[in-house]
Amino acid sequence: MAASHLAVLLMFAAAVLSAAPVARGQAASAPAPAPAAPKTITAILTKAGQFTKFLQLLQSTREAEQITNQLKGKSSSGGLTVFAPPDNAFTALPVGTLNSLSDQQKTSLVQFHVVSMVMPASQLETVSNPLRTQAGDTGPGKYPLNITADGTNVNVSTGVVNATLDGTPLYAGDRLVVYQVNKVLLPWALYGPALPPAPAPAPAESKKKKKTAPDAAADAPAADTAAGTTASEAARGVRGVGAGSWVAVAVAAAMWWAM
Ligand SMILES: *[C@@H]1O[C@H](CO)[C@@H](O)[C@H](O)[C@H]1NC(C)=O
Ligand SMILES: *[C@@H]1O[C@H](CO)[C@@H](O)[C@H](O)[C@H]1NC(C)=O
Ligand SMILES: *[C@@H]1O[C@H](CO)[C@@H](O)[C@H](O)[C@H]1NC(C)=O
Repeated sequence: MAASHLAVLLMFAAAVLSAAPVARGQAASAPAPAPAAPKTITAILTKAGQFTKFLQLLQSTREAEQITNQLKGKSSSGGLTVFAPPDNAFTALPVGTLNSLSDQQKTSLVQFHVVSMVMPASQLETVSNPLRTQAGDTGPGKYPLNITADGTNVNVSTGVVNATLDGTPLYAGDRLVVYQVNKVLLPWALYGPALPPAPAPAPAESKKKKKTAPDAAADAPAADTAAGTTASEAARGVRGVGAGSWVAVAVAAAMWWAM
């Protein structure tokens, strides 16, 4: 009895021990899907180091929170790409470059560094420019951003600054990609020279055209006359003499009447 009890115990123990690695294996593989839960932009940049100024802007404008919420939400299924300028990009800016901005403008500046889709390095060469950022309007004088890549360089242009991207992302997740960009991307809307209001000259020109249309019509007979003059000098000579003689008669008559 005692022996068979021991045998049962040993078998049980053996079963538990052999099962244990399976259970541990399952436990070890279970956290694997967990990295799919995206890291926060704050965590990524904090870990990367040298991004304190951009992190401060992300916090003060509450864009870090926005980004985290967007990544959680199903609406941004396309994910996000962030272009992060390191601290030396900020120190390279002229003094007061950022201080002159309102809170809304600071938000736009930060949003200009965020694109509402995941752009792995392989896609950087096929970007259709201008690329729309979260700052919005890509029209002239607004928030256009161009990316050109040739396999070696990845250039970013705002019209105000030309920068380069480090083609190897700081972080590449399913729904978030973070690149380091060597300059703060200053958008035209905030730092570019004011453009002449584009829509205004168009109506002015069409008015001019409308005005010139009747003028041109009125001028047309004169032009024809001029052309006709050279064409038929003799005819004009005859007409000229005829008209001139009538004037002479009228003047003579007027003078005679006056006397
Ligand atoms: C990127 O900019 C550099 C320097 O201006 C230039 O030599 C290079 O041709 C550019 N490459 C692309 C793909 O635009
Ligand atoms: C960006 O690309 C568009 C389309 O190619 C072009 O019209 C525009 O001039 C470019 N702007 C800059 C700043 O490179
Ligand atoms: C950016 O690069 C373009 C093309 O190389 C050049 O024409 C332009 O002057 C540059 N702009 C700045 C601000 O450096």
